[in-house]
Amino acid sequence: MKANERKWLLLLVCSSVAYAHEFYSTKLTWSRDVSRIFYRRCVACHHPSGSAFPLVKYEEARPWAQAIKEEVLQRRMPPWNAVKGFGDLVDDRSLTQEEISVISNWVEGGAPEGEPIYLPPPPKFEDSMSAGPTAPIPSARIQDTVTVKENVELFGVMPSGVEPNASVQLIAEKPGGAMVPVLWILQANPNFQQVYYFNTDIPLPAGSKLSLIPPGSGNFILYWKPSRAASPARRGGSRTRSRAVLPVLRPGLRH
Ligand code: HEC
Repeated sequence: MKANERKWLLLLVCSSVAYAHEFYSTKLTWSRDVSRIFYRRCVACHHPSGSAFPLVKYEEARPWAQAIKEEVLQRRMPPWNAVKGFGDLVDDRSLTQEEISVISNWVEGGAPEGEPIYLPPPPKFEDSMSAGPTAPIPSARIQDTVTVKENVELFGVMPSGVEPNASVQLIAEKPGGAMVPVLWILQANPNFQQVYYFNTDIPLPAGSKLSLIPPGSGNFILYWKPSRAASPARRGGSRTRSRAVLPVLRPGLRH
């Protein structure tokens, strides 16, 4: 009896030591490493009055660790869906390879909290719920092709009507025949609708043709302005523009 009890006790001690040791097999911590990435890339949506469940505090993120790892490795979060380098887009929210490694290694190593003293200053949230995104006024819609009738500058595109996981390209052809890649949506997620803006507005002389490839694969909204109005409006306009980059989210919209 006695020996048996001792054996149990020994087993218990050994296994809990092994467990504690294995549990945190990483030096990466929430406080020092991961929270920074989340504040920058996730909490704009994932906060208490945001469009998705909160991931601001360690206690909020920890239970989601496995799901977080999967979402970032699959590049489903943060939702972006536009192919890098095809069109010159503002505010690419996708994670860098390094950020993905930090998050997934942290989860794999047991997702430790670390010392809260290392936490960066808490993030501030714009009250996007009440203010709402300042969406620009649509100029045209495109399902197949659209020919521009006057000189314009294309400054934004909002994809819609795309089948889940579909791939759609928007391409411009100038009157001289030059082709300009505008936007490529890959693995579309209809739950997220947002306006994509360009770092440099795309000048489209009258007669330019915009096409969706494959034709009929979406119903995109185009935002352009007359070329002449461009230069004076630019300077003062940058503030409004960065606010307007706020995603227009339609969670719960599923096909
Ligand atoms: C543009 C807003 C937005 C951003 C930015 C964002 N998310 Fe999300 N996320 C959502 C919404 C909305 C959902 C609800 C899921 C849905 O229905 O697609 C979600 C769902 C999730 C889920 C749950 C997936 C599941 O298992 O169902 C995880 C995990 C997640 N997000 C992690 C992250 C992480 C980590 C980041 C930052 C690297 C991030 N998200 C950035 C909006 C966002």
